Amino acid sequence: MIILKLGGSVITKKEAEKPTIDITNLDRISKEIADSSFDKIIIVHGAGSFGHPFAKEYEIGSKIQDEDDFNHKKLGFSITQSWVKKLNTLVCDNLRENGVLAVSIQPSSFIITKNKRIYSCNLDLINEYLRYGFVPVIYGDVVVDLDENIKICVLSGDQIIKYFGENLKPTRVILGSDVDGIYTKDPKKYDDAELMNTVTSCEDLVAEGSLNVDVTGGMNGKLLELIELAELGVESEIINAGKEGLIKKALNHQTGIGTVIKKN
Ligand code: ADP
Ligand code: IPE
Repeated sequence: MIILKLGGSVITKKEAEKPTIDITNLDRISKEIADSSFDKIIIVHGAGSFGHPFAKEYEIGSKIQDEDDFNHKKLGFSITQSWVKKLNTLVCDNLRENGVLAVSIQPSSFIITKNKRIYSCNLDLINEYLRYGFVPVIYGDVVVDLDENIKICVLSGDQIIKYFGENLKPTRVILGSDVDGIYTKDPKKYDDAELMNTVTSCEDLVAEGSLNVDVTGGMNGKLLELIELAELGVESEIINAGKEGLIKKALNHQTGIGTVIKKN
């Protein structure tokens, strides 16, 4: 079983002012998935411009100050939940039109966090969908949090990857982003950034310039999840899903396409 993440940086135009899908990338990726051979697959997608701007504007996940603040954040929760659900519908429809039997899984309808980490998440339904031959498609969302000071927070697709990787023991975990893998520092900001074949610890990165912090911590947050997952015995690989053919290669069992995150 493969877990594949499609980063918001790839399937949406992340810098756009309004939620904007990158239909060229999405359509190509759906075709690459449809053309690949695998037994079972779970697709996790990010939120990009459908989620981050709203989560940021309403400061979802920051400490609740008072009742007015909670009401404001609840409005933001409802708006964000609605936009990421729309993105998920676009992704599922495109996958199905290209021949992938996608079924939508809404995190906020069954996952609860405690202090921003997944606390309750029943995987029975996902296992049944897989058994029936469906392709479950889950995504970064807003969820209810049991910490009384937080109450609601953002759940990144990357944390879902870590939880699913730990509990479903996939044979491969592949994360498609808009860069070739992990560099010594942000390749979009530094010309001298060097691509790393493997990463085993966050200390492998140069601190300065290595963080692209969005509401869920960008590449830094992703790596923290993946290093924890590697320590539990599940390796993962970050590849460039913006480049034609790489998702297909990765799904067809090629490794060494991007950066492998493995145990020290
Ligand atoms: P996604 O939406 O694909 O899940 P993010 O947009 O959150 O991913 O993070 C990917 C971005 O992280 C890249 O576009 C890149 O600019 C940035 N980044 C920051 N530091 C690094 C690094 N050391 N190596 C690679 N990318 C980095
Ligand atoms: C973020 O999910 C979810 C929301 C902002 C609601 P991700 O963190 O997985 O999204 P991307 O891949 O960075 O866009």
